[in-house]
Formats: sequence, C-alpha cells, structure tokens
Amino acid sequence: MKIVHLSDLHWGFSPERDALIEQRLGELSACTADHVVISGDLSQSGRSEEFAALRSLLLGSGCYHPDRLTVIPGNHDLFSFFFRDFNAGRDLYARWRRLPGAAASLYRYGWREYEADLDRFHSFFSETFEGIFTLAGNPAISYPFIKLLGERAALIVLESNRMLPQIRRNSACSNGWIDLDAAAAILAHPGLENRFRIVVLHHQLQAEEQVAARMGRLYAAMTRLINRTALIDLLDRSGVDLVLHGHYHHLEQYTVGRSIPVVNSGDAAGWHLIDIGEEGAGIIPRM
Ligand SMILES: [Fe+2]
Repeated sequence: MKIVHLSDLHWGFSPERDALIEQRLGELSACTADHVVISGDLSQSGRSEEFAALRSLLLGSGCYHPDRLTVIPGNHDLFSFFFRDFNAGRDLYARWRRLPGAAASLYRYGWREYEADLDRFHSFFSETFEGIFTLAGNPAISYPFIKLLGERAALIVLESNRMLPQIRRNSACSNGWIDLDAAAAILAHPGLENRFRIVVLHHQLQAEEQVAARMGRLYAAMTRLINRTALIDLLDRSGVDLVLHGHYHHLEQYTVGRSIPVVNSGDAAGWHLIDIGEEGAGIIPRM
C-alpha cells in the first residue's frame, strides 16, 4: 500500500505558489500510489473559487475517488471571517480598516458559524467522504471518522481546528484542539482490529519549545495544539502506527510517545511517499 501525503497547499496565496500546486497535482496522474492524503489548508483563504480550482485540479489528476483520495480542512479552509474577510490581501492599511469588523465577527463566532464553514468545505469535496465510518453511524460527514484503505490499513481522521469555545482566546484562528473523548471512541472501533492505524490531523505534534527554536515563541504559541500531550498519550494507548499532519510548514519526520512515527508534509514544495508493508512504513521525502 503506497500513500502520497501532501499538506498546506494554500492555493490562492500567490500565482507562483498556484503554479507549483498545479504541477504537483498534475504529477499525481502519473503516480502509482494507492491513496493520496491532503491534511488541510488546501486553500489560502477559504474562498469558493479557491476550492473550485482545487476540485478541478484533483478531478483532472484521476485520483478524485473516495478510495483514492482523502482531504481534511485546515484552519485556512475554515474561519472564513478571518482568512477570507479580514486577512486576505497584502494591503496592511485595508486590513487595519477591516479590524473592527473582524473583532466583532470573532466575538460572534460560535458553533453555528464553525459548522457552516465545515459544510462549505465538504460541499466542494463531498464525494471523497463517501463510505466513511463515524461515531453517529449515519452517512452525514462528522469527525472523527474512519476510512478503510484496502484490506490492511485504515485512516483515522481527527478534526483539530475544533477550537470552540476557546476561539476568543485564539484570535489568529490557528491554535488547535482535539475532542479526546470522541478520538478515544473512534480509536476503539472494532473495524480497526488488525489494521495498520494511520491518524490524520491538521495540527503538529511537536513540542512548543521545538517549534519556537526554529520559528520564534509567538509563532509556536499561536499554532500549537492545546491538548497535545493528552492526545499523544491516547495515541500511545490506542496502538496507532503512524500520524500524518501539516500546519507547521516543514517537511520532516519525527516520533512521539512510544516511538510512533509522525510525518509532517506542511510545505507545498515537498511531499512524502509512504510505503506500508509487513514490516511497517517506509517514509520517503520528495521535493
Ligand atoms: Fe494551518
């Protein structure tokens, strides 16, 4: 089983970035991988035209099928009041004038707005969610969910942007949080028995100090997964074999807990090819 892992494409950031993404997704048509995972931030600002452009490229790549493609939202794909309505563009004066409106939206942002942002993301990529297993046990898309890959592997997808009601202390909409009770329930699903368990989420699992050493304290504090330590304990207890994420824009591999391999493909300049065999996963970075 070969998996291509991409993340943080940020379509719409710049024409140069868009050209790179177009090339990258075009390469998938010649790729013999069994499955492609894109772990969030497909778009720069969650605009409908950005999602539509990516959908079109993915359709053209030939991998647009639930058995061959899994996409999940990142913070840039949600929180539309911030990334689409406030943070867009490079005109700092225009952004300053939009600040009062953004602050009011931040105060008003609640579960209803979050669910509407999620629904909008799902509406562009709905076919890729067909056949998932959720805790509710119905066909509606909800998190966490399981997608079985062939006879031997499974993706366990967690939604790490679920920051409410803490959102008002997360004013850049970039911190993460995991619903641990729901994650524990899905990781105990009998359908995972004897399968290679691959957890997919958007936010990084590195310690805040490690991220700060490279990126500075402010960046590390504003991008961290709030309940990271408790999540790693849960992954350890649940027999997880591999974790895939992005968010923190580096191409790297590391381990957490009892040496669970973690792959960060958070940079559109690169990606990882993961080959799962009898002995575990072989992980190869590609540029
Ligand atoms: Fe992100």
